[in-house]
Amino acid sequence: MMYVDPSERNYIIGTVALLAVFAAAVLISGFAYGIQLPQPVDQVDPRIVATPGNSPWGDPVEERMHELAPGKYEVYVLAQTWMYSPGSTNYGQPPITVPAGSTVTFYVTSKDIQHGFKIQGTNVNMMILPGQVSSLTATFDEPGEYNIICHEYCGVNHHTMFGKIIVE
Ligand code: CUA
Repeated sequence: MMYVDPSERNYIIGTVALLAVFAAAVLISGFAYGIQLPQPVDQVDPRIVATPGNSPWGDPVEERMHELAPGKYEVYVLAQTWMYSPGSTNYGQPPITVPAGSTVTFYVTSKDIQHGFKIQGTNVNMMILPGQVSSLTATFDEPGEYNIICHEYCGVNHHTMFGKIIVE
């Protein structure tokens, strides 16, 4: 048998063990916690996506949430510097309001540059790119306010880019 220095053997064992831990972390987060990569669901032209008549993001902001079935919603959120519509109450946009227990599918795109879309207390954490539609679904069991955070640097007022989901 080939001679392997004991300390080198320990490093090999440690390396293999670490890889096993990392692989287990991926499998556990994917299957036990349901953490999924956001799917690129569609492509849009960012130059006209917010123009009325061209896409759901061109509809008036009050009409971008649809109840598909009792407790099941979809909402089309437009990201731009430095707000979400709907969502950014600090920029005069309406909050996203749903009853407790609702399942909400978010369709988010940007009309200008890259943004982030992270909802506190949920698994929703997406990068938002102009031209791409990002989508994830979350269930809101607990009443309260959930913040949407932009976590991609998007200019001087990046820190003011947040939104609000109200679960009643
Ligand atoms: Cu939008 Cu940072």
